[in-house]
Amino acid sequence: METRTQFFTTPIYYVNAQPHLGHAYTTIAADVATRFKQMDGHDTYFLTGTDEHGDKIVQAAQKQNQSPQEYVNKISQLFQDLWPRLSVQNNQFIRTTDPSHIQVVKNLLTRIHDKGDIYFSSYEGQYCFGCERFYQDRELVEGKCPDHGVAPSTIKESNYFFKMGQYQDWLIDHIKTHPGFIHPRQYETELLSFLKEPLEDLCISRPKSRLTWGITLPFDSDYVTYVWFDALVNYISAPGYPDGALFKKFWPSARHFVAKDIIKPHGIYWPIMLKAAGIDIYAGLNVHGFWNVSGSKMSKSVGNVTDPVAVTDRYGVDAFRYFLMREMVFGLDANFTEDVLVSRINADLANDLGNLFSRVLSMNLKYFKGVVPAMTSAPDISLVPDAQAAVDGFQKAMARYEFHKAIAAVWQFVSSMNKYIDMHEPWKLAKEEDKRPLLAAVICNLLEGLRTVACLIYPVMPGTSEKMLTALGMTIPEKGFFLLDEILSWGQIQPGTRLAKPAILFPRIDVSATDASDEKTAPAKKKTGTGFTPEIKPVITMEDFAKIDLRTGAILAAEKIAGSDKLLKLQVDLGTDTRQVVAGIGRQYTPKDLVGRQVVVVANLKQATLMGEDSQGMVLAAGTKKELVLAGFDVQVSPGSPIK
Ligand code: ME8
Ligand code: MG
Repeated sequence: METRTQFFTTPIYYVNAQPHLGHAYTTIAADVATRFKQMDGHDTYFLTGTDEHGDKIVQAAQKQNQSPQEYVNKISQLFQDLWPRLSVQNNQFIRTTDPSHIQVVKNLLTRIHDKGDIYFSSYEGQYCFGCERFYQDRELVEGKCPDHGVAPSTIKESNYFFKMGQYQDWLIDHIKTHPGFIHPRQYETELLSFLKEPLEDLCISRPKSRLTWGITLPFDSDYVTYVWFDALVNYISAPGYPDGALFKKFWPSARHFVAKDIIKPHGIYWPIMLKAAGIDIYAGLNVHGFWNVSGSKMSKSVGNVTDPVAVTDRYGVDAFRYFLMREMVFGLDANFTEDVLVSRINADLANDLGNLFSRVLSMNLKYFKGVVPAMTSAPDISLVPDAQAAVDGFQKAMARYEFHKAIAAVWQFVSSMNKYIDMHEPWKLAKEEDKRPLLAAVICNLLEGLRTVACLIYPVMPGTSEKMLTALGMTIPEKGFFLLDEILSWGQIQPGTRLAKPAILFPRIDVSATDASDEKTAPAKKKTGTGFTPEIKPVITMEDFAKIDLRTGAILAAEKIAGSDKLLKLQVDLGTDTRQVVAGIGRQYTPKDLVGRQVVVVANLKQATLMGEDSQGMVLAAGTKKELVLAGFDVQVSPGSPIK
């Protein structure tokens, strides 16, 4: 029988660097899932936090001339402050430096040690400092760590080990007999294939001579416990293992969200640790893919990270959440670019949903003076079957954590409503007095349809849901949302209610302003039906052309703009003066390659601000988004030469 409680967790993130889009994704996905479960009548608990021990943290603290404690306090605070900004409603934030957590780690280690599953031994192996773990030869890619691309170091030391082999068959059996325990399916297959080989024992300690920033082993004060035996335990220490009420209530329904980088600790070490300690294992593991930038994983070690704060400041938190959930197929990798983000905002949010919303409210204003008409019986034109399909599709997909499909089911309905308007042509009905009842039915169906959409988008876009429901004259329940069961009943918007003036839900983003050098391939044009008409260029005179001040320039300095993988900030010598120009060529050119290069500049372009940087001009380049080549000359021309 399905439990009516639901416990979701995210990984606890390392505090060796600032939060980035990858962390934001997992946490937002868990938040969306939590809000959905609430709509589905569950009592939920949502945990996130920070992982604060280890070599990496000490090194990062040293770099900033801070004590480890000062440093972890500072970075952990960044994560704690980020979540409300992203409309994430976690119930708890755990830190591995919390005394109560440390106590539970010691308790667990004692139990497993007493049982005889932890032993002391000398070990030599291949150790990656980046991952803080030993690698087996077969796990390396061309002799290098698959995550960091560096050859591991050979390390020999005496340590404590956790015997895992005796639980291997039990784990295989558990995975096979619990479909959905590892989700989606491809990761179940991956784990089972890994489990075909005998499991090696897990090294769980570090000598204090090498690492002090950790939790001392309860049975040997010369050692601290190492990464996973500390971090994974947060999932039970936070709700108060062993006797806490939250632990008792929620642990049986625990489902962890992680990306595929940490599938092994979560899918293998953790269930075996729990089993060895005599604790029920968690209910499920949801594994997602990576956000990539230009084909490689967005990660702090690669240095190609996108700052979620910058993106939300610019585009809004609901649009950001929508994009993350709509664009990534849960389980597979996805690519992050600002172009695709803008394209989705303009097409799905500004155009499809936003236009429908203002269109319907405008019609109600125009034909009924803004007052909701009485719903007349018109079963032939009811939108209920479409709404039903949206609710069903949404519910089914959300229950399987297929966020993109759930959203698509809602947008299918948005599109049906847009077609419904075109089919019933309310503007024609409005002209004939005997068609008033039909017109009222059409408008009421559309208003109820919008109410349905507003309720369904709550997990993904809570702010927009509230805005829409308020504009539709609905009173939002104290808890902030409507239960799934309550949505379908038609006629909840009371006749006689005066509705507000139509508001713009999502302003269209001016694509030409986001990237001046890229107008020809404006992203929104890739989609059809976005409201963008194909660009027809007018014929101009020589005089018109002469208005453009084209000049040669020399690049004096170039640097990346934080938060964008394609925008570069250039200082360009134009002979007469030096200009700052922002150019969208960061995917094709590195800053280093650009210094000293000759470019063609539109020198009298109106000043613009891109990602917070002033741009006084535009650099010309040819080609498509993928292959952009800077315009130039085959001999050196002095900076500032006019181009005729
Ligand atoms: O591994 N795409 O912490 P971490 C998608 N402290 N998700 C990404 C991502 C990307 N490019 N990069 C990071 C640790 N993530 C341990 C976890 S848990 C008991 C201990 C997300 O800071 C994703 O959730 O390296 C991934 O699993 C996690 O951040 C890794 O975070
Ligand atoms: Mg990592």
